[in-house]
Amino acid sequence: MKRTAGLIASGLMLSVAGCGALDPARTRPSPSPPGALRQESVDRGRAFAETACSGCHAIDRTGTSPLAEAPPLRDVVARRSPDSLVRGFSEGLVTSHPTMPAYVFRASEIDDLMAWLDILNRAEPPPR
Ligand code: HEC
Repeated sequence: MKRTAGLIASGLMLSVAGCGALDPARTRPSPSPPGALRQESVDRGRAFAETACSGCHAIDRTGTSPLAEAPPLRDVVARRSPDSLVRGFSEGLVTSHPTMPAYVFRASEIDDLMAWLDILNRAEPPPR
């Protein structure tokens, strides 16, 4: 008898979990239009570059790199394809130069960084 009660109890738990998954508040599509999401990604990418890269690289459309050997990121973008950059970032960006630290990127960081790098060399007015 105890056994049956246990089975019923776990069945209840399952259905409760099932209801949670169908909670309309969670399945509701995001209210932000795609353009806004993209802008958020660009902003996060810029912030990430500022934290992780700006100590050595110029990360904006203008300006010189604090570390002379580190090319401004806009030049790197102009020189390398987005594919090769993403590949480099996923592999931890190990370059021939020992001054460039190996950095393990999270996938979301790569997405955001690429969103920022993507607009760096565009003709559109700078976002800030
Ligand atoms: C401690 C200084 C330093 C930091 C921090 C740094 N870099 Fe670099 N980076 C360098 C130097 C120096 C080079 C030049 C390497 C070379 O010539 O081989 C370089 C080169 C690169 C290159 C060019 C590689 C190539 O093949 O042309 C890319 C892309 C790059 N860095 C991206 C980044 C990104 C993105 C960040 C932030 C997440 C970052 N770096 C942070 C110093 C740094």
